[in-house]
Amino acid sequence: MIGRLNHVAIAVPDLEAAADQYRNALGAKVGAPQDEPDHGVTVIFIELPNTKIELLYPLGEDSPIQGFLDKNPSGGIHHVCYEVEDIIAARDKLKESGARVLGTGEPKIGAHGKPVLFLHPKDFQGTLVELEQV
Ligand code: CO
Repeated sequence: MIGRLNHVAIAVPDLEAAADQYRNALGAKVGAPQDEPDHGVTVIFIELPNTKIELLYPLGEDSPIQGFLDKNPSGGIHHVCYEVEDIIAARDKLKESGARVLGTGEPKIGAHGKPVLFLHPKDFQGTLVELEQV
């Protein structure tokens, strides 16, 4: 059911420093910061030849990233994003298997303008999983 790894998201305490490091030390193609008020984050996408890295930084008062950074002050891997062809079919199949979908259970529009859902990390080996319809 799942397709390509769309991105790995890393929560960072200093977005500019992280972007500079990927641009200069790692020589990656680094995009511009985008505010995502619906998700409480500012993101920067980094294009790699086979996938992307999503740098996440808190936006607004109750950003879901803030608690993560409080526990991991130097940052850390926050989630992985897998591509699916039909997000509703994928969600329904996963719910049948007992997996919990976060939030309302309805897809939101993600950073690429496509529907996304998040799955409970306790149901996936301690890893927060994002599904993105492509
Ligand atoms: Co993501």
